[in-house]
Amino acid sequence: MAAFYSDELVSEIVAANDIVDIVSAYVRLKRSGSSYMGCCPFHREKTPSFHVSADKQLYHCFGCGAGGSVIQFIMNAEGLDFPDALRFLADRAGIRLPEDGGNANEERHSRKKQIYAMNRDAARFFRECLLSPEGEAAQTYLTKRGLSGKTIAAFGIGLSPSGWDGLLKHLQKKGYDRSLMVEAGLCVQNEKGHTYDRFRSRVMFPIIDVRGNIIGFGGRILSGDGAKYMNSPESIVYDKGKNLFALNIAKKSGRGYYILVEGYMDVISLHQAGINAAVAGCGTALTREQARLIAKSPVYLCYDSDEAGMKACERAAEIFKEFETKLRVVTIPDGKDADEFIKKHGGEAFEELLKKAKTVTEHRLDMLLRDVDLNDASQKIEMMGKAAKLFSGISNAVEREIYIERLAAKSGISAQSINSEVRKVNAKNIRKEVSGELRKTVGTAQGGQKPRRRSLAEASLLSMLAESEKVYLKFADEFTPDSFSEDIHKQIFNHICTYYKESIGGSCADYLLKALPGNEKEVSTVLMAVQNVENEMQAAHDFAEVLRNEIFDEKLQKAQSEGDIALISELLKSKKQKG
Ligand code: GTP
Ligand code: MN
Repeated sequence: MAAFYSDELVSEIVAANDIVDIVSAYVRLKRSGSSYMGCCPFHREKTPSFHVSADKQLYHCFGCGAGGSVIQFIMNAEGLDFPDALRFLADRAGIRLPEDGGNANEERHSRKKQIYAMNRDAARFFRECLLSPEGEAAQTYLTKRGLSGKTIAAFGIGLSPSGWDGLLKHLQKKGYDRSLMVEAGLCVQNEKGHTYDRFRSRVMFPIIDVRGNIIGFGGRILSGDGAKYMNSPESIVYDKGKNLFALNIAKKSGRGYYILVEGYMDVISLHQAGINAAVAGCGTALTREQARLIAKSPVYLCYDSDEAGMKACERAAEIFKEFETKLRVVTIPDGKDADEFIKKHGGEAFEELLKKAKTVTEHRLDMLLRDVDLNDASQKIEMMGKAAKLFSGISNAVEREIYIERLAAKSGISAQSINSEVRKVNAKNIRKEVSGELRKTVGTAQGGQKPRRRSLAEASLLSMLAESEKVYLKFADEFTPDSFSEDIHKQIFNHICTYYKESIGGSCADYLLKALPGNEKEVSTVLMAVQNVENEMQAAHDFAEVLRNEIFDEKLQKAQSEGDIALISELLKSKKQKG
């Protein structure tokens, strides 16, 4: 079978399968910066040299050289060829492949479509129930919470009736099977085989995916005992960890950013106030997959200011860091959530909070200072240590300066002492991060040290070029394909140039993998050569310098072996001038 898959489909399947999640099923991974490390599943090893990068969505083993995208990983791990690996990943993500007219997939697809239709009918039914006499108390409740009729309609909010089987009977009349109702989580079946409605007397919020399908419901209790919220269970159409409430609307807000809040009601209040960029997880702690849905745009984190909210906020910040998302933290005064704040102060006041939103560092600094008694020397020293670590992560010197000044003003510790603490931490980090890979490999390479060093410098520089257009623009003129000694490096360099010159969309990594089929190993070796670099430009300068020296040495050696005195003196002269 010679199946042909379009690039779009392959990209869609790759995008739907987060490499960290996939690899985690085979390898115990440990987080380190924006990447993960573990023991390579493809060769025996005791010390981990297997790296997975979350933002590049690539893996690479520095031990055996295996590497590539999630597709190559599955090919290797499951022993599949390309089409089968693709099918494996498509299945996992619920994506249908065109030539799979085959039964299992077809059946699954049609069941999903039936559930979408049934959920839509259920939402209509809940809505009618809210508008009927039975819904009077619920309407009063929603009005009291400040929701307008327009908002209620826009979010498709409804009410589940109080009886045992109101919805069930309605859906039955519409021709849906009980088994489908149970599968979709609208009904539950007890041990005796009796089926009844899952949601009773709850305000119903439909959860809608970005394609406009109703994939589940959140139901809020109106009165009495029981969990405040009940959500649809997971099903073939609903994966809690992969959806965000109101993302379908927020995607079209035109604001160019997202506001991540905790609850359904927070989202709805914000939207009603015209701030329609708000989304929320549906009662789960933020997952990487949820973050990935919005991580390319700036994100405002707007969590409740209680202890649990603060923790959730820290966690979210960590997750978004992997994606290098531009983050701001919104602090709601007087301990309220977004919904209560808006009800009290209105949408414009919330827009002001957005304007005053802090960077994660600022926010963390505030938290450090809030918890410390500055009159207690040991507490002060401990705080200083934490702050130095925090600041050392800031690559922008001006930004760092600002925070240091701020801490100095608030803590009474001189900016000079803070600076020196930060420098200490920094020196340690830079030694570890930038030159770490270079030194490690150069140090252990037996014999043939020179070529190894050159090759590594080339790969490292290429990885920085692929990573950042700024770096590319800075170095594109200086280096040419001839600067690179290895053929694959020349090719990669050419493709990186094409990628930027022709403004090809998607990530450079994806493009390189596509442009050099059959060379996934080599491409991933290059792309993963350097990781977790705080300052790409600085790192690129370092690598470029190593490469320059290598190129110079090579020229000089050649001139010497050829006895080209004129060239030798010219080379030495130019070296003297430069440095
Ligand atoms: P209100 O209390 O009506 O203002 O709702 P809220 O949306 O502000 O809820 P809250 O801040 O208490 O909780 C945040 C989110 O966590 C909710 O929107 C739900 O998704 C989820 N959640 C809250 N309580 C429960 C619960 O008892 N069970 C489940 N499964 N999820 C809950
Ligand atoms: Mn609330």
